[in-house]
Amino acid sequence: MTPPKDFNDRMLSLGLARVSEAAAHASARLIGRGDEKAADQAAVNAMREQLNMLDIKGVVVIGEGERDEAPMLYIGEEVGTGEGPEVDIALDPLEGTTLTAKDMPNALTVIAMAPRGTLLHAPDVYMEKLAIGPGYAKDVVSLEMSPAERVRALAKARGVQDTDITVCILERPRHEDLIAEVRSTGAAIRLITDGDVAGVIHCAEAELTGIDMYMGSGGAPEGVLAASALKCMGGQMWGKLLFRNDDEKGRAYKAGITDLDRIYSRDELVTADVIFAATGVTNGSIVAGVKREPGFLQTETILMRSKTGSVRRMIYRNPIK
Ligand code: FBP
Repeated sequence: MTPPKDFNDRMLSLGLARVSEAAAHASARLIGRGDEKAADQAAVNAMREQLNMLDIKGVVVIGEGERDEAPMLYIGEEVGTGEGPEVDIALDPLEGTTLTAKDMPNALTVIAMAPRGTLLHAPDVYMEKLAIGPGYAKDVVSLEMSPAERVRALAKARGVQDTDITVCILERPRHEDLIAEVRSTGAAIRLITDGDVAGVIHCAEAELTGIDMYMGSGGAPEGVLAASALKCMGGQMWGKLLFRNDDEKGRAYKAGITDLDRIYSRDELVTADVIFAATGVTNGSIVAGVKREPGFLQTETILMRSKTGSVRRMIYRNPIK
């Protein structure tokens, strides 16, 4: 039977879960082994193999790097059987390579799929990010506000004190001023060492994770993945590309971006319905990490569709070959 040519997100999503599960399985034996590259490579190989089994005409728009930098899952690589709908793929086979190598929480395998031409082709530069969960008025906070103003605005919207707000920030020297300003409001800060896709997703489940807002700069590719997740779960996000030199600006122009100062909202980062899957590699607050039992591996995957807002958590137990 010929596969359908339309973006049948309902059917495709189950295949997407298999792709992220396979990457997590493959990197499982490298958890805590101090070898970031090997863990990443194992996830890349497995993700690519599974992706190529899907009946899609896929193009990697967020991937492992430019064609000359990455032998597999490079930006522009065509994936899938070539039969079926034309789709954009954004992926991070191992989001948190260091977290995996050190067996620290919240390492994930991540992939999103959307109709062709609807995911921002974000170059590999930094992005200033701001995210909050669902249930707030549109633009209650913004990137134009100072960090302290954002805390005050969110606290007011929630009807709580500034001190009741928790902000998640990547612990980096470049964030020293940001951290100091947020602290000056009395808000709490959850510092994370890596993994800002998980950091942003945490905002969508604030009651579970205790995180109200995500702020700070991280990878732009991860920004598109995080926006895909928030589009499914609800929540607002904004991103602005940051350029440190002409080479980075060149990457943006090459990706077709002309307005280098543009602030992208969630729905400008991801302009149509998207499906998103992430599987836990190490334990985290979104999904559990890979569990090793004698003869078996078990993973947990979060699988979501923006069209329906459905969020599935799937446990997969599979014999080790
Ligand atoms: P990797 O797993 O690819 O190493 O990325 C981890 C990460 O923490 C991302 O979540 C984040 O967007 C980026 O690195 C931040 O970059 P930097 O480490 O340069 O601050």
